[in-house]
Amino acid sequence: MIFDRNNEKAVVALLGAGSMGTAIVRRIAAGKKILLGDISQKALERVSDNFRRSGYDVETCIVNALEKDSIEAFAKKAAELGPVMYFIDTAGASPNQASPEHIVNLDMLGTGYAVDAFGKVMAAGGAGLIISSQAAYMYPIPNEIELQLVNTPTEKLAEVPFIKEVALQNSGFAYMIAKRLNHLQAQRAAATTWRERRARINTISPGVIVTPLAYDEFNANGAGYQAMIDASASRRVGTSDEIAEASAFLLGEHATFVNGTDLLIDGGVIASIRTREFKLQG
Ligand SMILES: NC(=O)c1ccc[n+]([C@@H]2O[C@H](COP(=O)([O-])OP(=O)(O)OC[C@H]3O[C@@H](n4cnc5c(N)ncnc54)[C@H](O)[C@@H]3O)[C@@H](O)[C@H]2O)c1
Repeated sequence: MIFDRNNEKAVVALLGAGSMGTAIVRRIAAGKKILLGDISQKALERVSDNFRRSGYDVETCIVNALEKDSIEAFAKKAAELGPVMYFIDTAGASPNQASPEHIVNLDMLGTGYAVDAFGKVMAAGGAGLIISSQAAYMYPIPNEIELQLVNTPTEKLAEVPFIKEVALQNSGFAYMIAKRLNHLQAQRAAATTWRERRARINTISPGVIVTPLAYDEFNANGAGYQAMIDASASRRVGTSDEIAEASAFLLGEHATFVNGTDLLIDGGVIASIRTREFKLQG
């Protein structure tokens, strides 16, 4: 059966074919060409099979988001498939999954290289979305250091003293700082490279969203997460489908004036921390 005879389609490129990423793509990619990139061949096979069986047009590409060359090859492949109208980056590791070095290399530098690479191939009118985290709001970085970081090219970020001396102290610091960097990376791109291509880019900072990654966090620090959920205004965790709904807005035609900004979707966790209703341990 040939389900779809259209050849010229907008391309939706997803880096990190995990829980949130696939929910976002499913929400926006009907009638478009999907390019899934992930380090796991198994994940790519499972997810692309699910998409095909649901009527989506999908291709896959092994990508290691720890390697600049691999990310650039992924962006090139996306551009060869057609006009790249959407780029979504959800490749990441959480504090209880990885060392500080791995988190800095993947969540911070890998995201930076992806934003840089897609800043060379996005089509005019296109939109990008980086999945950051509520953790980005948990470690206030002094303004002068943020200014230095926002103006540092990706390949030089790891040399900044703040990254070497603070971010690499432990996986928690690495994650909070890397996720805040994602906001700054989107801001810089929105103002420079993506602006030149007339494409928009934003971030979403999710709170606790139940996915396999979140289960690794619950297994390591269940009591801490329970206390955080209990103290939040919503008193519950979130779902990937809720993130997908907000993503569809940010990537879509009703958000063309939304650019270089972050949307925090955390059920009120950061509000409870900022007002000292909840005290973050450590
Ligand atoms: N789940 C949560 O509670 C939560 C909350 C806030 C932020 N986040 C962030 O959201 C993003 C997506 O998380 P998720 O919960 O959907 O996780 P997930 O584990 O389902 O998805 C992550 C995907 O990234 C891929 N990946 C890992 N390393 C890679 C690499 N080197 N190269 C290419 N791909 C790689 C994994 O194979 C996986 O498919 C992550 O950046 C995470 O930090 C998650």
